[in-house]
Amino acid sequence: MVLVPGKELLVAAEKGNYAVGAFNCNNMEIVQAIIAAAEAEKSPVIIQASQGAIKYAGLDYIVGLVTTAAETTEVPVCLHLDHGTDFQQVVRCITRGFSSVMFDGSKLPLEENIAITRRIVEIASAVNVSTEAELGKIAGTEDDIQVHEKEAMLTDPAEVEYFVEKTGVDSLAVAIGTAHGQYKFEPKLDFTRLAKIRSLVDIPIVMHGSSGVPDADIKKAISLGVRKVNIDTNIRQAFVQGIKGAMTENPQEIDPRKLLGPAREAMTEIVREKIRVFGSNGKA
Ligand code: G3H
Ligand code: 13P
Ligand code: ZN
Repeated sequence: MVLVPGKELLVAAEKGNYAVGAFNCNNMEIVQAIIAAAEAEKSPVIIQASQGAIKYAGLDYIVGLVTTAAETTEVPVCLHLDHGTDFQQVVRCITRGFSSVMFDGSKLPLEENIAITRRIVEIASAVNVSTEAELGKIAGTEDDIQVHEKEAMLTDPAEVEYFVEKTGVDSLAVAIGTAHGQYKFEPKLDFTRLAKIRSLVDIPIVMHGSSGVPDADIKKAISLGVRKVNIDTNIRQAFVQGIKGAMTENPQEIDPRKLLGPAREAMTEIVREKIRVFGSNGKA
């Protein structure tokens, strides 16, 4: 299959009341693990590349890997740019074949975020590429944020309708208490805020920083309109655990494939588990 626009997957998820997993990739083993999991679960899937991934693997390798994956599988695959912060890079991704792009203007003043998101939506929609924007600031678990500052970073429902109307964006990433990375404490999600946001706009909502969020909370967020759930850290953990396990079992191993193979299997397993939590299994 060719790469599918993210919007198609999220509209189907909206109808079926489930969410599609958006899994971060950085190399071949991760892409293969995500695809193997999606195939085993008969699920649509979004494979996404962060700024770090593009720096590490290079844009051409990411496109090559994910395009090959899509062409050799029966499940629908979307290639998405995660947290694009540079207008030119977002446009470059569109021209290289990404089927969905995120512009993350969350660090910008509201009107600037709107203006750049709008320009990207105009370009992307002309070539059937889907768009995601961020309103509010999704922090990192390593960021040193005080409790009173946390509240100010959450998505302000008062801005949501205006933002979506002005930008015409296809999906919206919201800050409702999740953070990127390994949580030190269990995150506390602001479901009241999510429900309020949902009552104001009818586009799919995106949840970032979802690794480490308890399954019950993810399911509740999905019941309140989250249609794309981003997972990176859980994949990283499985990757490293898989390698460590193989090295412990055979400390003399010198064939990288004997270490990366088990890592790939461990990643497939965690992605399969997440797909089942999101309810997208059997939806391909
Ligand atoms: O959005 C955050 C992701 O976990 C990606 O992080 O830029 O280190 O790849 P990264
Ligand atoms: P985690 O690494 O916390 O799962 O976050 C992933 C993410 O939101 C990517 O955009
Ligand atoms: Zn994110």
